[in-house]
Amino acid sequence: MDAHGPVWELTFKSNVRLAPEDVRRWVSIMEFAQNEEEFEWLLNRASHARSVLEIGSRFGESIYRFAKKIPPKAKFLCIDWPNADDNPLDSERALRIKRHEILAMGHDCDVIFGDSHDSNNIAIAQAYGPFDLVFIDGDHTERGVQQDWDNYGHLGKMVAFHDIAVPPPCYVSGLWIELRRKYYTDEYVAKDSFMGIGIVYREKNVTES
Ligand SMILES: C[S@@+](CC[C@H](N)C(=O)[O-])C[C@H]1O[C@@H](n2cnc3c(N)ncnc32)[C@H](O)[C@@H]1O
Repeated sequence: MDAHGPVWELTFKSNVRLAPEDVRRWVSIMEFAQNEEEFEWLLNRASHARSVLEIGSRFGESIYRFAKKIPPKAKFLCIDWPNADDNPLDSERALRIKRHEILAMGHDCDVIFGDSHDSNNIAIAQAYGPFDLVFIDGDHTERGVQQDWDNYGHLGKMVAFHDIAVPPPCYVSGLWIELRRKYYTDEYVAKDSFMGIGIVYREKNVTES
């Protein structure tokens, strides 16, 4: 426990050693894994949110940008399993620092360091919810992204997905095509991007699409 509530921790240590120039290159690619224009599009649609659940936070840059956009006293919960996708950098430390910066903005923010598919973590998120926005950007495998939608999608009024336009082995696009048939959705893929962001508006009627 700390002054701002419990933080659940599952710590993983990486044995990978990279040369400094490789580290610098990796950091610049990985620090913010979003297309700026696409993320701005999402921020503009999420600016009214008072509660955000993010699955997959890595260095905390996307949750930090949500926190900067949204007026104080909002509630943020991140679930991130550092190094789950072989990222050899210390993203856990960076996410902890970002959490404290978000708290300093006057928001509530907690981080679960662990697998989003773990039933304990699902139960914790359920107890925190519901959320105005759920942003799914964690496990991009076919089974993984489906599980995140099944386990967390119902907790959000808006459910956003990153990488809806990326071809396999990233499998968000398959699920996204299915969701587009069933729900009221909106999406944006910037001209110079291969990633894309899609939003499911769970409370809007599909016939409004
Ligand atoms: C693409 S990055 C997230 C980028 C972040 N949303 C941003 O825009 O800055 C994906 C993150 O999800 C984590 N991840 C992958 N599988 C996960 C799982 N099963 N549970 C929790 N986190 C997972 C990875 O370790 C990584 O930190």
